[in-house]
Amino acid sequence: MKLSAPAIQAKKNQEKITMLTAYDASFARMLESAGVDMLLVGDSLGMVVLGYDSTVPVTMDEMIHHAAAVRRGAPNTMLVGDMPFLSYQVSPQQAIENSGRFFKESGCDAVKLEGGLEVCDAVRAIIAAGMPVMGHIGLTPQTAGKLGGFKVQGKDMESARKLLHEAKALEEAGVFSIVLECIPDGVAKIISESISTPTIGIGAGVHCDGQVLVTHDLLGLFEKFVPSFVKGYVNLAPEIKKAVRSFANEVTSGTFPDEGHSFPMQIDAQDMLAKKGE
Ligand code: KIV
Repeated sequence: MKLSAPAIQAKKNQEKITMLTAYDASFARMLESAGVDMLLVGDSLGMVVLGYDSTVPVTMDEMIHHAAAVRRGAPNTMLVGDMPFLSYQVSPQQAIENSGRFFKESGCDAVKLEGGLEVCDAVRAIIAAGMPVMGHIGLTPQTAGKLGGFKVQGKDMESARKLLHEAKALEEAGVFSIVLECIPDGVAKIISESISTPTIGIGAGVHCDGQVLVTHDLLGLFEKFVPSFVKGYVNLAPEIKKAVRSFANEVTSGTFPDEGHSFPMQIDAQDMLAKKGE
């Protein structure tokens, strides 16, 4: 059954929340049948699937194209669309228009925005227009340059306090959940205990109200870079390469396709065709 934003909120202190990224229909179908609370079409799409060096180049059109595919594969799972860089920062009106595109053109159920106080006006505007919003603080990849790179955030008292302040401001603005990325588990614990909005951690320890991972990391499909907080539940990339090498070897040696993977013809028709070809 597809969960709603209030149903996700109601899970706080009752049951842990699960979320995974999805970028296409076939993965979405598998993830829905395995069972997770939410699917996130993350702008990690840019690095994991589209081959960019960061999430910054990802466009609204690319996000919508992939979100629509995920929606077709997983019609019964809550779907969150990640607002790409500069799709919500220019003005609250721009934020409403782009969130609206996610809803109207791909069938998303919520959107996610990176940032703290600076995005609260956009968050309020999107919610006022009728669309649920998920927040995202800590390591925010779209602005990693400003943070000094892909580094753990909130390690000292001042930056931890700032994160707590941002979480409270986002709660006040009305988000239904907040992703906490790459922050010490003790800071995530204090934030999670200080707000009634569920927190969803990635590299933020066990005290969050839920967890999210990039599916390709969990499955060992993205070999370029694996963050230390990722747990690989299976390592599929070597298996895929092995299968592809076997295919290539069998084609080269003429052992594929064999009889079991070909269509037979009636013997007499085959003889006639061979004679006509003479
Ligand atoms: O883009 C993404 O996949 C994300 C998750 C890592 C939370 O924002």
